[in-house]
Amino acid sequence: FTADRYNVRRRDYAKLSEDDLRVFRDIVGDSGVVTGPEDLEFYNVDWLRICRGQSTVALRPKTTQQLSDILKHCNTRKLAVCPQGGNTGLVGGSVPVFDEVVLSLNLMNHIESLDTVSGTLISQAGAVLETLENYASERGRVVPLDLGAKGSCQIGGNVATNAGGLRFLRYGSLHSNVLGLETVLADGTILPFGTNMRKDNTGYHLHHSFIGSEGTLGVITQVALLCPPKPSSVSLCFLGLNSFEDVLKCYDETSKALTDILSAFEFLDTECYTTSYQEHNVSPPLKPFPFYVMIEVSGWNAEGDTNRVSSLVETLMNKNLVIHGTIVNEPSHMLSLWKIREGVAEALTRRGYVYKYDLSIPKREMYNLVEDVRKRMGSSVESCSGYGHLGDNNLHLNIVTKDYYPEVTKQLEPYIFEWTRKHKGSVSAEHGLGFKKRNVMQYSQSPQAIKLMQRMKELYDPNGILNPYKVLPDSFPS
Ligand code: FAD
Ligand code: MLT
Ligand code: ZN
Repeated sequence: FTADRYNVRRRDYAKLSEDDLRVFRDIVGDSGVVTGPEDLEFYNVDWLRICRGQSTVALRPKTTQQLSDILKHCNTRKLAVCPQGGNTGLVGGSVPVFDEVVLSLNLMNHIESLDTVSGTLISQAGAVLETLENYASERGRVVPLDLGAKGSCQIGGNVATNAGGLRFLRYGSLHSNVLGLETVLADGTILPFGTNMRKDNTGYHLHHSFIGSEGTLGVITQVALLCPPKPSSVSLCFLGLNSFEDVLKCYDETSKALTDILSAFEFLDTECYTTSYQEHNVSPPLKPFPFYVMIEVSGWNAEGDTNRVSSLVETLMNKNLVIHGTIVNEPSHMLSLWKIREGVAEALTRRGYVYKYDLSIPKREMYNLVEDVRKRMGSSVESCSGYGHLGDNNLHLNIVTKDYYPEVTKQLEPYIFEWTRKHKGSVSAEHGLGFKKRNVMQYSQSPQAIKLMQRMKELYDPNGILNPYKVLPDSFPS
């Protein structure tokens, strides 16, 4: 159990009773109340299979009103609650630590509408990202967010974690694409949508406080999302390079030459590349290189865009920055190349226990950290690798050992966090803090900011029932 491995003490919440179960059945019906130990396994264990809670009930409301009634009851009774979307989060935020009531958004998956003139998509929070993507695509629009977990993660979970992903470079953060939210506070108060207008300066932008709050300030029940027009042509390059210095030069040239059509710039080192294509049985597009870069462009001028990409790759090759590469635009071919990149996270978990670090670091310094950690850990670990959203300064540093060894964590932390702070980076670029990173917030936030966050939590959720043991540190700066 998470609580034992990480030595956490249960806070003073009420324990679930038969009366509570009766109230829940009245609100959501028998089928909305999950209590069987085997059925609960999914809700208690996270995607990485590192965090395991001990909840004895998961609730599946279908409407905002039902969800509000549940929270009202839990708040009155002081029952702790863990909101859960697709349970693909990577920091242990989506599963209970002790016996919190799991509040699953799985059945709140109705897509309401898409205004094809304004691009405003309205959906319940439990809609799966890939389903939304298909819905928007059929109507000539694109969801401004894409990530490897799209087949299971939900738009509400994406908003709650302020997920970044592969299209961040092009469309920016969810803070700029979420037009409005319907949320429910801990006491059951429903905060309805506001105007859902991009321009709206009528007071504080309350909905932004829920974006990235990881279920600790309120539960997101509906999302209004701005979906840009869908590009009609997409091309993808997969390139092999000899050094990280060349990766940086390649980024520099690419961002200048293709800035208006660039939609992704990702990098992988050789360890990630090899592990991913082997574990996913994808035939390797290129021979071994120290580094690989994936450049995606999307626009509306198929011939012109392809020519610009080909000409850039030719220039990069003439400068010996790129040694070998392939450019594809056939959808199934692009998918199989993306599989190598999107599949890294899963592939590494098949090799053992993964110590995951999701960092913002200035591009120039980024890979120095991977090399420093590799040197520091030597042969005590199976592998130490780096990949990520280079265009957004976001490094995913992953260390793998056969099993979990607490002494390896002690070697890695706080070393990695101090290194990151020294370079004015962020110790959580896109995954959030959840349970696992809650006590490292101070590496990227001032004591003043942390105290203000604590006061926000007290204001939104005075009884502290929403996702306890997550995001905020166990002790606050004095
Ligand atoms: P969950 O995992 O269920 O929950 C995540 C957090 O949000 C929890 O704290 C939970 O309490 C809260 N929450 C969920 N739903 C709600 C709601 N409706 N209201 C309030 N709180 C809620 N992340 C990135 O940023 N970029 C990536 O590229 C990326 N790639 C990934 C690739 C893979 C293969 C995997 C497994 C994960 C990846 N992630 C990535 C992690 C990412 O955070 C999640 O995939 C996603 O955003 C979480 O959505 P979810 O519905 O699964 O939420
Ligand atoms: C990714 O970019 O692949 C995700 O953020 C998952 C990960 O960090 O492993
Ligand atoms: Zn990522």
